[in-house]
Amino acid sequence: MAPLKILMVASEVAPLAKTGGLADMVSGLSSALSDLGHDVRIVFPRYPSVSSQAHRVESVHSLLVEDGGRVRSSTVERIWLRSAADASKPRPAFFAIRQDDYFGRRGIYQESGRDYPDNLARFAYFCRAVLDLVVVWQRKEGWVPDVLHAHDWQGGLIPIYLRSQYASRGFAATVRTVLTLHNVGYQGIFPAAQFPLLGLDANYFAPHGLEFYGSLNLLKGGILFADFLTTVSPTYCREIQTSEFGFGLEGVLGERRDRMVGIVNGIDTDTWNPETDPLLPANYSARNLDGKATCKNALQRECGFPAGGTPLLAVVSRLVSQKGIDLVVGATPSFLKDGAQLVVLGTGEAEVEADLRMLEQRHSDSVRVMINFDEGLAHRIQAGADMFLVPSRYEPCGLTQLCSLRYGTVPIVRRTGGLADTVVGFSDTDALVGNATGFVFDPPSSDALGTSVGLALSKFRDPEVWSSLMLAGMRREVGWAEPAKQYVDVYRGTIGRK
Ligand code: ADP
Ligand code: GLC
Repeated sequence: MAPLKILMVASEVAPLAKTGGLADMVSGLSSALSDLGHDVRIVFPRYPSVSSQAHRVESVHSLLVEDGGRVRSSTVERIWLRSAADASKPRPAFFAIRQDDYFGRRGIYQESGRDYPDNLARFAYFCRAVLDLVVVWQRKEGWVPDVLHAHDWQGGLIPIYLRSQYASRGFAATVRTVLTLHNVGYQGIFPAAQFPLLGLDANYFAPHGLEFYGSLNLLKGGILFADFLTTVSPTYCREIQTSEFGFGLEGVLGERRDRMVGIVNGIDTDTWNPETDPLLPANYSARNLDGKATCKNALQRECGFPAGGTPLLAVVSRLVSQKGIDLVVGATPSFLKDGAQLVVLGTGEAEVEADLRMLEQRHSDSVRVMINFDEGLAHRIQAGADMFLVPSRYEPCGLTQLCSLRYGTVPIVRRTGGLADTVVGFSDTDALVGNATGFVFDPPSSDALGTSVGLALSKFRDPEVWSSLMLAGMRREVGWAEPAKQYVDVYRGTIGRK
């Protein structure tokens, strides 16, 4: 079958601009699609952070993009990455929309905890610029994507603009749109008064369009108008069709369930490889675990803990209510009594940060909290810890538990979304470890987390059981090769359908 031309449209892409797993997913999936022989281009906004990671930047086009009734210019930059591990491999091509008034800011969505007030204008502009870029590519190179794959609310207007403003363009009839929902908790909701800024016909502001309880909802628009929807795990795909997890969109998601599928994310297994990871003090693998003890000692030293056999628990997370960090704060005193240490790395809501700081003050001998975004430390923690906690209230997929599996750091997770789909829980009643790769608990409470950690700590004392849990996780397939094939099936199905 002929290779596909795929255009990824996202507000973040690793390693150029990242606040969370979306960035990793977009780059990981794109690389795996290139490995399968597809022609992949990625378009994202040009934030200042891009410069430090780019190897080469070249301005390739200029665009005049309609913006709230006037025209605002931008430049399209082609970006080459610093680290092309294997130069002979086909790589996705990175293109950034450079519009410094909108994107030349310190943050991606917000600064000092406050969303930028013009986020609607910023991402509407971005979506239009992407479609204007396709017009340019068609004219100059005859390049038209088969699939426009947009992500989250920031890409939600792509399917709508394609059918309205850009409907008369030649490519509108053939290109198919896929929208991936990474987190239905973030919908891009704006005051209705800002609707005119979008330049859309008034009938798009309707219950079966962008209107949502009197406001404007970009994710809802994308859900209704995309040709196909994906989300990042099968369990989350079911969960978002219920009122508990749908954040008000369960109805429209249910309507579109025949055109929606859940595909579990992968991780970049070159970057996250304990055998070769240059960010670690020592390397190790499932065949030889010796280096992991060196990583643990080094991490204990970095945390100011006494080095040794004490079990070391870890969290690396955005510090927002979704992630259930309050459960960790509540459960910690109980597992410290059992003799454990805890290290937390994260940034986020001021209140969650303050609660963690307080926990650290109270237990300064055995709790270390690092309020920071630090890629290197995230790797050192994944390698050095014994157990990794992900007690999320909801979790569309979650990437950190996949990294911890690969690093032999046994995950303790709540049974929700992608956590339920990726960790096989050890049960107290099991005589053997079987397929278990971690510990899974149900109620979103500190007690339930504490019980699960208690069980894990008791198994930690049994080296045979513990090493079989670690090895089962390390041998699990967590790369992008399989998920990428499932995306190709989605793309081909969508193309074949019309
Ligand atoms: P989400 O996208 O909801 O934040 P994921 O688990 O999908 O959750 O992805 C989080 C990604 O961000 C992982 O790659 C994780 O290692 C990284 N990350 C989160 N917080 C930090 C931090 N403080 N420092 C470094 N990396 C972080
Ligand atoms: C979102 C979700 C997370 C998922 C990531 C990548 O940020 O919160 O669960 O892993 O997107 O898809």
